[in-house]
Amino acid sequence: MIPIKTAAEITLMRQVCRAAAAVLDELTLLVRPGVTTQELDEAARNIMAAHGVESASLNYKHGRHRYPAYTCISVNEEVVHGIPGKRIIHTGDIVSLDVVVRAKGFVGDNARTVLVEPVAADVRALCKTTEEALHVGIAQARPGNRVHDISHAIERHVRFANYGIVEQFVGHGVGRGMHEEPQVPNLGRPGTGALLRPGMTLAIEPMINLGKPAVIVTQDGWTAVTKDGSPSAHYEHTVLITDGEPEILTRAA
Ligand code: MF3
Ligand code: CO
Repeated sequence: MIPIKTAAEITLMRQVCRAAAAVLDELTLLVRPGVTTQELDEAARNIMAAHGVESASLNYKHGRHRYPAYTCISVNEEVVHGIPGKRIIHTGDIVSLDVVVRAKGFVGDNARTVLVEPVAADVRALCKTTEEALHVGIAQARPGNRVHDISHAIERHVRFANYGIVEQFVGHGVGRGMHEEPQVPNLGRPGTGALLRPGMTLAIEPMINLGKPAVIVTQDGWTAVTKDGSPSAHYEHTVLITDGEPEILTRAA
């Protein structure tokens, strides 16, 4: 069952998603050579408090694992769910920031990859294509389409470049919970999957590798890295299906 949000719920989703976007924007400004991912996470904690929202990642449970930080910060070969720590950011790195916050019972989820310039041309192109793929996917988030129309659009946009599309992690419904139905894969067959209806809220989040698609989860139980060590990019928005154009909820005011 895919939840359809009421008008009142959509109002709350708009509020929490706007805050999620503001937190991500402010955190982006702090990414620079010499900072550690843990310092960024501590800043995120303060930024969230200033916006009156809580981290939805902190203490999030998956199986026997409990997520220990306010944000996910994934550097270079780290794909998603990187746990902030002592890793120092260097010039040429790409840093994927994933911010998921909760307020008044609702969750907003967004992510972006920040380039610590100068970044190698092939890595820059990977990031650009991944961000484009997110928007090409969002454009399919309209009533009458099906979930895998989004997936297929992302896949098609990325295929020409011979990148690795991550299959192990997917987008998802988001609302009262961080992860609701449906799953939103980043590749798939058009015309399949659940029918999209106004009032659905989806987190669309392509994760694309410069090399092969395979990822492995490290010893910490969370941090996913590319198996071949190649860099990976990640962009995400929470989107509302409306009667017409998709509404990007995680857009800073
Ligand atoms: N956007 C990520 C996801 O949907 C956020 C994960 S937060 C974590 O998986 F706490 F689960 F790591
Ligand atoms: Co997500």
